[in-house]
Amino acid sequence: MKIIHTIAELREWRKTVGTVAFVPTMGNLHAGHMALIQEARRQAAHTVVSIFVNRLQFGQGEDFERYPRTLEADAALITVNGGVDVIFAPDEKELYPNVIQQYQVNPPAIADELCGAFRPGHFRGVATVVSKLFNIVEADVACFGKKDYQQLAVIQGMVNDLNMPIRIVPVDTGRAEDGLALSSRNGYLNEAQRAEAPRLYYHLCRMKRAIEAGERDYSKLAIETVADLRVRGWHEIDYVETRNAISLKPAAAGDKQLVILIAARLGTTRLIDNIEVQLG
Ligand code: PAF
Repeated sequence: MKIIHTIAELREWRKTVGTVAFVPTMGNLHAGHMALIQEARRQAAHTVVSIFVNRLQFGQGEDFERYPRTLEADAALITVNGGVDVIFAPDEKELYPNVIQQYQVNPPAIADELCGAFRPGHFRGVATVVSKLFNIVEADVACFGKKDYQQLAVIQGMVNDLNMPIRIVPVDTGRAEDGLALSSRNGYLNEAQRAEAPRLYYHLCRMKRAIEAGERDYSKLAIETVADLRVRGWHEIDYVETRNAISLKPAAAGDKQLVILIAARLGTTRLIDNIEVQLG
């Protein structure tokens, strides 16, 4: 397993191999990332994982500075999980030489809803870095987790609309035994918050069951969830929404593929989760 830090070296390596599957990450890897890597191995002969904490996707007051940088531990975890061909850990100065006047990829209005409404510019930062990484790695396939459902939709839209020659493979959310979606941010939770955190998934499952049983008053389900989360100490409940799973527009009568999405804070940690609902 090579650890490559420069774009030139990555490009040299790329010329020497056949099909490549790519997993972009910001590091601080956990079992959820290992599931993405496992899927990547199934998709192509070679695998590349990038590790880069992307300043452009963090807003003011977000956790860019305290985001854990754990390259050695990440490499060790990948190794014990079967390895990849390359870990690409570029230097910020090389990836963003013009951080002030950087050309950026501007996603459409759907990226300003849900998480985008609370994290202005976040998906522009994500789309920009992902398109740069796609241009550098030139992979055939890239794997993204459904945990970041809106991110996956933005990337899929970017690939479609900009005719990028890469196939996006969505990977199911990895969960702890109690249902909590695996996330690097779970590490910020104290013991009591960690015990409370699976409540997001509990409510997603509750809402899904109700919809499957015929409930179509999505706002009522959301209001019940918000009320319970508040009582349990959650705050800044950014959204509890039922949307069309493909367009991410608010669910309309007759939509068969839905997704319920939640974002809320426990202490200072913002957690997100979602669940798909297939009707009919
Ligand atoms: O999901 C992430 O870890 C990041 O948003 C990504 C896709 C690696 C872009 O920085």
